[in-house]
Amino acid sequence: MPLNIVVMAAGKGTRMKSSLPKVLHKLAGRSLLQHVLSRTAALQAQARIVITGHGADQVEAAVAGAGIRFVRQEPQLGTGHAIQQTVPALEDGGSTLILSGDTPLISTPTTQALVEASHGARLVLLTIEYADPTGYGRIVRDGEAVKAIVEHKDATPEQRQIRECYTGIMAAPTEALKRWVGQLSNQNAQGEYYLTDIVAMAVAEGVPVVAVKTTDETEVLGVNSPSQLAHLERRFQRQQAEALMDAGVRLADPARFDLRGELQCGRDVDIDVNCVFEGKVSLGDGVRIGANCVIRNATIAAGARIHEFTHIDGEAAGVSVGEGALIGPFARLRPGAQLGAEVHIGNFVEVKNATLARGAKANHLAYLGDATVGERVNYGAGSITANYDGANKHRTTIGADVHVGSNCVLVAPVTLGDGATIGGGSTITKDVAPGQLAVARGRQTVISEWVRPVKKK
Ligand code: UD1
Ligand code: MG
Repeated sequence: MPLNIVVMAAGKGTRMKSSLPKVLHKLAGRSLLQHVLSRTAALQAQARIVITGHGADQVEAAVAGAGIRFVRQEPQLGTGHAIQQTVPALEDGGSTLILSGDTPLISTPTTQALVEASHGARLVLLTIEYADPTGYGRIVRDGEAVKAIVEHKDATPEQRQIRECYTGIMAAPTEALKRWVGQLSNQNAQGEYYLTDIVAMAVAEGVPVVAVKTTDETEVLGVNSPSQLAHLERRFQRQQAEALMDAGVRLADPARFDLRGELQCGRDVDIDVNCVFEGKVSLGDGVRIGANCVIRNATIAAGARIHEFTHIDGEAAGVSVGEGALIGPFARLRPGAQLGAEVHIGNFVEVKNATLARGAKANHLAYLGDATVGERVNYGAGSITANYDGANKHRTTIGADVHVGSNCVLVAPVTLGDGATIGGGSTITKDVAPGQLAVARGRQTVISEWVRPVKKK
């Protein structure tokens, strides 16, 4: 049976007080609208329509993709008017699922249940009981039977006592929906075309109306203000944290954990407080992450330890950290950092587009960019690869067992052969053969019995 999915996203979102359209504000790193679209991606739909209006160009550019069609609503005269714009685009013969772009955490099973209950023949409303229903459309019943939805501003004092509210999510028989939205009027408190007026029309026509009540407030909470956005973010983070803990991950504090993407964890993973994971991150068995780390697009192998205040950002190229490696505190791993097993990267060391083989160490205040570093290399404090000549990037190749003293500048392109030694303070501009010692600095001058100047009286 054909299914249309319509996401309403044309509203202004005045209370966000932002120049960014409301549905593009981010929850856990993805826009509100992306959440809605991804949570309904599993439903087999003939048409996926996003209604845009306020900031339409921006919204469309942000979520354009396979199978999504945009219908513009200009001006925005209410939710019923929004659905009117989609009528030519709706496939007949089945149901239409209507969602709100600002209600991001709707669950896939709930949407499936609504569609199944509608089955092209029934109007199915998702409802919830609120302790404080102020502002919501109320579900008016006669006995058990749903009779209408009345908007808060249009409700009588008695109707305002009703605690069962419409969540803004419904599944309707498509052909009837098209007919009903053509008959809406805007004679009401807000002068808008209310989609919710179709309920009374269905009742009048004898079309069955079903209210499906959810008890999960999180899935129907909408975002209207920065405060509500932050509140929903914490709820969502808590859900993610609980799911990880159920899978055995040890979080020092689930309230101080943020995942903005996907996190895969092996067994016995420990994550200390205030860590942020973004994009795709994978942590192998026994990985320990210290407090205050930010980790994005990275793969961290079993037994590795990421100490406090480390920043890892693989961007598109990714970062990989080998088994048993020790990183940080205060380390920075950038795109293309590929660290082998047992590598040590210490405080204030930056690694970018560089491969370090097993057991290589750079423990203090160093830069390794565009470099290939062999096994067991010891890279001294304050040493850097000078990889950029002002126009192009060049590579530094360091063989196995090389010892680079402190405060060296390796001017790329340059190759240090296996087992070479570089004296501290050297600026190396020429290749060094295996086993050689290279020292490139001024010789020390010594003056015996030197008398220091004294201050004139
Ligand atoms: C709506 C419901 C109300 C329900 C509440 C749940 C109506 C008339 N009322 O009220 O019963 O309790 O949701 O949150 O539907 N939109 C458009 N074009 C428009 C107007 C709105 O696309 O012209 C979009 C908004 O961007 C938003 C959604 O529709 O995503 C809901 O609109 P909103 O103005 O928030 O409706 P409410 O007043 O909250
Ligand atoms: Mg709303």
